[in-house]
Amino acid sequence: MGVNLSRAHVQPVGISIRNLKVVYHTGQGDIPAVNGINLDIPAGQITGIIGESGSGKSTLAMALMNAVPHPGQIVSGSVVVDGIGDMLKIDKESRRQARGRHIGFVFQAAQNSLNPLRRIGHQVLDLGRSHNVKDLRALIRRAKDLLTRMGLNADRVLTSYQHELSGGMRQRVGIMFALVLDAQVVILDEPTTALDMISQAAVLQIVRQIHVERGLTTILITHDMGVVADLADNVVVMYGGELAEAGPTEQVLAHPAHPYTQGLIRAIPRITGELEQAVALPGSPPDAVTFFQPGCLFAARCPLRFAPCELTRPVYERLGPSRHVACFRVTQHD
Ligand SMILES: Nc1ncnc2c1ncn2[C@@H]1O[C@H](COP(=O)(O)OP(=O)(O)OP(=O)(O)O)[C@@H](O)[C@H]1O
Ligand SMILES: [Mg+2]
Repeated sequence: MGVNLSRAHVQPVGISIRNLKVVYHTGQGDIPAVNGINLDIPAGQITGIIGESGSGKSTLAMALMNAVPHPGQIVSGSVVVDGIGDMLKIDKESRRQARGRHIGFVFQAAQNSLNPLRRIGHQVLDLGRSHNVKDLRALIRRAKDLLTRMGLNADRVLTSYQHELSGGMRQRVGIMFALVLDAQVVILDEPTTALDMISQAAVLQIVRQIHVERGLTTILITHDMGVVADLADNVVVMYGGELAEAGPTEQVLAHPAHPYTQGLIRAIPRITGELEQAVALPGSPPDAVTFFQPGCLFAARCPLRFAPCELTRPVYERLGPSRHVACFRVTQHD
């Protein structure tokens, strides 16, 4: 069966994640990198996932595609994608087809995941063939269009090998691969970290334009609250493999409920005043020991902690129509 590349009649696709748990089996024990997450990714919107290094963002992204590498293992849960089913249960071939064709993705460090021995253009054709694309000329046209929009010389890039491209060029090539098959869901994990600030802003604006043109459901992973503020409709804040807070970006930025979110916002350099006004979050993220202690994972670093925080893990609860938070200060009143 060929892939229909026309965009007519496509419905935005939502994702429903339930009780998702992923561990990495290590010599020091199992690390719960994603620890029982429940989250709905709304169709047709940009959802930003933010959190410090090690909070589990990339593991979550890979789990959505059922592509967690060894020594990681998805131990429970479901990831139901509209029109596809549970990514954790469907058969291998359906999953292979879903990746790329329904869900486009750029994994972190994707600039290293290109095939070093094949020209980029050949790799576009390989991707098209592996997904039964009939009109390969149209596919190449679309690849060129995307590369050109991202400020690259498309003909040059398509005839190049990976080593002939800079890190920033490879990242844009990665974004092109995520978008070229016209997937309805796009997952971008730190897609612009190798770009300077101006190119980053330009490329992200193009991601936003394409998102709007195609009615995509976009998941954008970043450690940069500024990127979330500029681009995302919703924000999901991760901490230690769990969800700290989620909601519409404007609401969360204006009234962050979780002290961790408040800390992340204070850590953004202001437009004026620059770095001096940014306040780094003290302390460090949970490690192999603190993961298993009772109480809130953030308690040790939290300026607002009180007795309950040391005793039990706060439940991720509904705070408003589309807002959730896991914090006793917000949800528990004495
Ligand atoms: N291959 C691995 N083996 C063992 N532990 C891992 C592996 N990959 C990730 N982890 C652990 O899982 C947790 C989550 O890592 P993950 O890479 O998902 O975080 P992240 O939020 O994407 O971080 P970053 O912002 O640095 O990309 C961390 O504690 C990390 O040390
Ligand atoms: Mg990551």
